[in-house]
Amino acid sequence: MNTIYETVDPADIDMTVIRKAGDIVSDGGLVAFPTETVYGLGGDALNPESSRKIYEAKGRPSDNPLIVHIAEFDSIYDIAADVPLEAKLLADKFWPGPLTMIFGRKPSVPLETTGGLDTVAVRFPSHPVAREFIKASGGFVAAPSANISGRPSPTSGRHVMEDMDGRIEMIIDSGECSIGLESTIIDLTSGVPMILRPGYVSERMLKSVLGEVAKDPAVFGTAVSGQPPRAPGMKYRHYAPRGVMTIVSGDADDVISYIRGKIDSRTGGERIGVLACSQDVPGYEGADIVVDMGRTDNEIETASRLYDALRRCDGENIDVIYSEEFDTPELGMAIMNRLIRAAGHNIIKV
Ligand code: TXA
Ligand code: MG
Repeated sequence: MNTIYETVDPADIDMTVIRKAGDIVSDGGLVAFPTETVYGLGGDALNPESSRKIYEAKGRPSDNPLIVHIAEFDSIYDIAADVPLEAKLLADKFWPGPLTMIFGRKPSVPLETTGGLDTVAVRFPSHPVAREFIKASGGFVAAPSANISGRPSPTSGRHVMEDMDGRIEMIIDSGECSIGLESTIIDLTSGVPMILRPGYVSERMLKSVLGEVAKDPAVFGTAVSGQPPRAPGMKYRHYAPRGVMTIVSGDADDVISYIRGKIDSRTGGERIGVLACSQDVPGYEGADIVVDMGRTDNEIETASRLYDALRRCDGENIDVIYSEEFDTPELGMAIMNRLIRAAGHNIIKV
């Protein structure tokens, strides 16, 4: 397939491109588009054939449900069976924005879109290009992150090209995503609202609206072993770079000297990459690549650089990656959730 590549300026949206993209989706095709979190791989959420194509293009297991993206709040009533008061409170505060809510599913949403579940995940993104694209596509766009299943999520048009060129009808490039981590997911279908995936909308922010909030123990590390996560996607290996990755945890000086030791004592042609906060970058001289993850007091900078850092290591054919910990106050939970998965839970305490 020949993939059409279009650049759209969010400050001056070219509606001819948006209309073309909308027509592709309405005809059952797939278009990758920017959001404030990561790029999405969009298809018509109400067309089961489109959802099948999404799974195929990503190489994703079809029991892993898709998020339905809307461009106005009232669309929720066409796809969600019941909309509790909590949803309205959360929407008032965080929509449009990087929050996904889970509701009971209306029959209008095919089971192909929800991975066979009787619930539906709904997100109203804030990115202006995403909003115009969703409207032009009929108002309901199913979209997972636009990466090949298992790879780091795409946060730029170039990342999408790397994974999706030749697999989908069109890519809309609007530059880098401002947040760079997928939306927070909260389940509103049973009892106390439960966070299924951490994101930019933090536990503290959710509690400020809802009071009580639970966290899925299978995702946040206190799991009784064997209990599956409630967001099916969280059980798969994810965000993985090609190199073997280790997170090194401890006091800054100890972390630097541990990783330095690995760089200095390497044998053979092993290529080493390091993910470090700006302050520590000079300490890793001799590594094949040192990715500057931003200053520790600029959390959003660290979040938005993470997936690009993993892809850059792949681009440099890095065999072994060491990462510092980025346990920052507000976004730390979301950043470390992705980093730990990328490292396949490989963490060393020094
Ligand atoms: O920021 C985002 O949410 C991005 C952009 C494109 O909007 N999308 C995204 O989609 O991250 P995806 O497919 O990569 O991740 C969706 C996650 C998966 O872990 C999936 O299992 C979970 O949401 N999910 C979707 N529907 C669900 C449902 N009904 N119940 C539980 N989990 C659900
Ligand atoms: Mg994904």
